[in-house]
Amino acid sequence: VPPLPRLVVGNWKMHGLREQSTRLARAVAEGAQSLPDDVRLVLCPPFTQLSSVHGIINAAGPETPVCLGAQDCHMTSSGAHTGDISAEMLADLGVRYVILGHSERRQAHGETDALIRQKVEAAEAAGLVPIVCIGETMQERLEGRTTTVLATQVEGSLTDGFSGVLAYEPVWAIGSGTVPPIDELERTLSLLHGLLQSRLKTDDIRVPILYGGSVTPAQAPTIFSIGSLGGVLVGSASLEAERFLRIAEAA
Ligand code: G3P
Repeated sequence: VPPLPRLVVGNWKMHGLREQSTRLARAVAEGAQSLPDDVRLVLCPPFTQLSSVHGIINAAGPETPVCLGAQDCHMTSSGAHTGDISAEMLADLGVRYVILGHSERRQAHGETDALIRQKVEAAEAAGLVPIVCIGETMQERLEGRTTTVLATQVEGSLTDGFSGVLAYEPVWAIGSGTVPPIDELERTLSLLHGLLQSRLKTDDIRVPILYGGSVTPAQAPTIFSIGSLGGVLVGSASLEAERFLRIAEAA
């Protein structure tokens, strides 16, 4: 089996009006042309910019390593859900990936593992690749509960036949400028690998595990030195094409 491409996912969060988003996506698509074949970029703009970013990715041609992602979806495919967006609607717009269970949604919208799992099912049914985020808070880390928390999240938010992407984002590392020590990150990745094996009941795990939380061009080479890492989920550094592309170059 050939190795999977490394994923460099840009989560734009709630940033980007039309002009800025268009400029950013164009610059990324342009710069991505010179990236090696084994890197794939995923741009996850807010819902309102999906269409315009899709147009830019399309214009970059079928060989572009850039594809489109969204930041959330509803757990059902249609219905009386004012203000919500379904996975089917995203797929219809040309979206390929969807971030689910980001800690900002777990915290600000009370999303539970059970809800996230339903969203994963909806995404899979629509043919999208879910990027499921998990991670411990600083409090949980200080209390020595990281392993339990991650085990609970892997158990609860993934589907039985999960074949998407898992993103480990320690909540305390997000937007903090701090990345976990590399040996700790390596240990956590192997812990997650084991948790996936028992959750999915197979030794043959093909689920890429991403790291997210204060990934910068300066940190990227160290982070990518972990051979088993499937890629990174980038927040603020994905809002500048030049920084995002430098991270992709390090992949
Ligand atoms: O989803 C990515 C994010 O939560 C990390 O954000 O700004 O620390 O890279 P940032």
